[in-house]
Amino acid sequence: MIFLSPAPYRLFIATCLLFALALASMQAEPAAPPREKIRLDAGWRFALGHASDPARDFGHGTGYFSYLAKTGFGDGPASIAFDDRGWRQIDLPHDWAVELPFDRRGKASHGYRPIGAAFPETSVGWYRRTFPIAASDLGRRISLEFDGIYRNARVFVNGFLVGEEPSGYLGTSYDVSEYLNYGGDNVIAVRADATIEEGWFYEGAGIYRHVWLTKTAPWHVAREGTFVRTDVAGPEATVTVDTQVVNEGHEAASGTLEQEVVAPDGRVLATNRRPLQLAAGETTTLTDAIAVASPQLWSLETPVRHTLVTTLRRADQIVDRYETPFGIRTLRFDPNAGFFLNGRRVELKGTNNHQDHAGVGAAIPDALQEFRLRKLKEFGSNAYRCSHNPPTPELLDACDRLGLLVIDENRLMGINAWHLHPLERLIRRDRNHPSVIMWSIGNEEWAIEGNIKGARITLPMQNFAHRLDPTRPVSAAISGGWGGISRTVQALGVNYIRQGDTDRQHTGFPGQIILGTEETTNQQTRGIYVTDQARGHLAPQEDGTSGGNAELGWKHYAARPWAAGVFFWTGFDYRGEPTPFGFPAVSSQFGILDTCGFPKDGTSYLKAWWTDEPVLHIFPHWNWSGREGQEIEVRAHSNCEEVELFLNGATLGRKKMEPNGHLAWPVRYAPGMLVAQGYRPGQETLTTKVETTGPAAAVVLVPDRPAIKADGRDVAVVTVEIRDAAGRLVPTAGDLVGFTISGPGRIIGVGNGDPSSLEADQFVGSSRSVTLGEWAAPNPAVNTGEVTFETTFDLPPPADGETYSLLLNTLGPRQTAELNGEILYRDADPAHSRVELANTGGKLKPAGNKLRLVSPVYPEWRDREGLAQFHPLSLRIQQAAPPWQRAAFNGLAQVIVQSTGEPGVITLRAASAHLPAAVTDVTAN
Ligand code: GAL
Repeated sequence: MIFLSPAPYRLFIATCLLFALALASMQAEPAAPPREKIRLDAGWRFALGHASDPARDFGHGTGYFSYLAKTGFGDGPASIAFDDRGWRQIDLPHDWAVELPFDRRGKASHGYRPIGAAFPETSVGWYRRTFPIAASDLGRRISLEFDGIYRNARVFVNGFLVGEEPSGYLGTSYDVSEYLNYGGDNVIAVRADATIEEGWFYEGAGIYRHVWLTKTAPWHVAREGTFVRTDVAGPEATVTVDTQVVNEGHEAASGTLEQEVVAPDGRVLATNRRPLQLAAGETTTLTDAIAVASPQLWSLETPVRHTLVTTLRRADQIVDRYETPFGIRTLRFDPNAGFFLNGRRVELKGTNNHQDHAGVGAAIPDALQEFRLRKLKEFGSNAYRCSHNPPTPELLDACDRLGLLVIDENRLMGINAWHLHPLERLIRRDRNHPSVIMWSIGNEEWAIEGNIKGARITLPMQNFAHRLDPTRPVSAAISGGWGGISRTVQALGVNYIRQGDTDRQHTGFPGQIILGTEETTNQQTRGIYVTDQARGHLAPQEDGTSGGNAELGWKHYAARPWAAGVFFWTGFDYRGEPTPFGFPAVSSQFGILDTCGFPKDGTSYLKAWWTDEPVLHIFPHWNWSGREGQEIEVRAHSNCEEVELFLNGATLGRKKMEPNGHLAWPVRYAPGMLVAQGYRPGQETLTTKVETTGPAAAVVLVPDRPAIKADGRDVAVVTVEIRDAAGRLVPTAGDLVGFTISGPGRIIGVGNGDPSSLEADQFVGSSRSVTLGEWAAPNPAVNTGEVTFETTFDLPPPADGETYSLLLNTLGPRQTAELNGEILYRDADPAHSRVELANTGGKLKPAGNKLRLVSPVYPEWRDREGLAQFHPLSLRIQQAAPPWQRAAFNGLAQVIVQSTGEPGVITLRAASAHLPAAVTDVTAN
């Protein structure tokens, strides 16, 4: 006996109603806006496929006429008819690599995740999603846009292959207008294959950036079709705009092109209008120079953005309205004086970063991008190098808004379409961002950097970039291979002063811009002061893997005002490259911050010399039980003129701080309190202390913000602190903490900054399906009669926490279903015959269940063709997500909480075996 769970029916009927209402309202609407950009992040289904076994890749590519033989013949999950109800439901951004357990056979560079040629069963991911298109959309141009998929993404819409993109970092746009079902549902299927890597660092896997649906009139501004640049002379600015307009219609178009420069407060500052005529199929580019009186300039202190609103009109009708946010600013690099923003010299105080964060891997929500940038700004960093690939567009938006300068980096160097086309896409996508100040065409290209080929390849790439954007210099970073790229590149990026003589290069090439694109930090595991090889933990390094440390690097560039500044390797720790260790170390330790953004001691060194804020920080911590009487070096990072150190009230001496330096005292360890006092002429004395703490006594949850947006995307970053009875952070605590959440929020990742932690970053449920019975689709040549599917099946032996659902499919237009002798439904149409039957209450028999489906055969050949693409009956086996947990590392852990979309109070609870439970609220509104 089985009973039909009413829930799927109710859901189904509700969905139908909603869809009908949505369709009706779309049709009733007078007119959709001329341009729509719809986010398609929610409501995907995901499953791992297989890189080498088509049978385990859902039969994709095995059809008699497969997707390359006949257009629209996407097979396996690429077919419309494919049944994905057994797949897991996910929202984007998504990174399946970070969900996988660590595997010591994996690549060190990518953080020992089971991705790559040795792991075909976890290197391919499939995504599917359905979206409705209104009948009234017919005639518009509709594009499906992916900001980035890692990688080799094959994209299908309604069974049509629309493109295949090898890059894991470039955005793609596919015009799908002619493949859509207007007034009906449409299916996107994406197959991503991460087997071959692009970088030598953790890169994630899957659709880890946003997906959009863009709708325009046939006559519209081209995608990324504006290029805005600005010049400022006295109080007036000139905004020069190239606008690419395309007529994809079948008739000539004529009207006007209007440009408005809109101030940050919404005032229209200047307008330009011109007539426009386009033949059918024509694309044209028009240039306007627009004068703007006394604009606010974009700067690091006031990162104000203007908006260029481009409007295409036919008579009084608005045909397109395209917005380009931009900043009015000037930039100039002087090989003898450094970098100038709006005529003022700005020292580049930068960091390098990958798109990778604790808990979430490469799938970083926009709000977390901003969180990361704010962390970098807190220690005075004003610049960001996107190493070593085109970044996510929202990162650049955030740099624009927050006031950070960006080196935007290309992947491979070369002169063929394979290399130049990606460079073009990078520049066209990013050239309106005021934050972007330089293009980097490559990084450490060892095969060419020191030889004549490098010198040669650089020139055409550089010229190509200049044609697309004459306003920014082109750089390439080299690491010791001098005499090749270094001879021809406009802006030389020096990766590590240990590997080259910047002074000699400056003298030899006086017209060349020089900057430090990578430089060593203090390379340390956060909170660790004694290297522990076995645990992969690193004390602060005086001489890091690439030579030197933050102080040496900063002093070098600070003393050379002709150079434009320096970018440290790296701002944040990232997965992979666990140098100088291997497994179980899985993350890098180069960061000024750890993978969560918790500061290491080097943060205060840079903050002292990169900001005007008073800084006084002493380290290490003072919990050294067992080392009583032994000498421990205590250091101070400070911009005070003098610092005095006291242990338990007794002075250890007052010392003078050298500019850009640090101070150190040898101290015989005794538990208690270290106090430092920092003296600044004419100002209050600064005091800081480090105390020996008691044992862990409490867990405390501290969200970065009390409230987030109830938009399904915003995140709160919650710090988990282990404190002693006096409320002091216990700097050695490693308590395991479990988390539960209630209200309109979900946990999307946990981390603790331990580069050797092999704990899970995510706790996700699983879903898979197995087919039941034998099925042979009816011969398409048979035009009449009935089609029957009949099977007897057993349930798999019950496993802990697993739930089962039967998934029935549709064989024909009027189906009857019978289970164990009982009629489930009779003559149901396709909307009602494709049902899910939950086995709640154990109504299915463990063995010997009998199911029979009967229907008249579909009259249409194409409908019947779909029958070959699914199995009539499957069993879905789901397992709920295990509870979330993470050990603290040196007293800290992080929980990333995301809005689920509804307003309300999100409550996060933490529990640990020996500590009282903690709770915190975040309001979503
Ligand atoms: C550099 C390289 C970076 C990173 C770093 C690690 O040579 O450009 O991507 O690998 O070394 O030390």
